[in-house]
Amino acid sequence: MGAWIEVCAAGDIEQEDLIRWDYGSRSFAIYNTGKGYFATDGYCTHERQHLGDGLVIGPVIECPLHQGRFDIATGKALTPPVCEDLATYPVKVEGGVVFVRL
Ligand code: FES
Repeated sequence: MGAWIEVCAAGDIEQEDLIRWDYGSRSFAIYNTGKGYFATDGYCTHERQHLGDGLVIGPVIECPLHQGRFDIATGKALTPPVCEDLATYPVKVEGGVVFVRL
């Protein structure tokens, strides 16, 4: 089980939006959806476009390059051209701060 790592203040991510978060040599996408906060790998599994500039549509992230879609909570690939799921990570919010377990 990995450690909880502080990401940002919860208010730093607008509702229905996401941010890019780089940690060490890795890069992630951190989401604030209507159902809470979530974290996935930052790069699309199709051609490694970063999802940080993507569009949050309810429970779904749409990749900015070819508009492939993933389920934010599960990382499941939903629409072509993406076919490989995204890795997801546990998130918690404590004291107004977002943490991700890596
Ligand atoms: S790089 Fe994301 S859908 Fe092609």
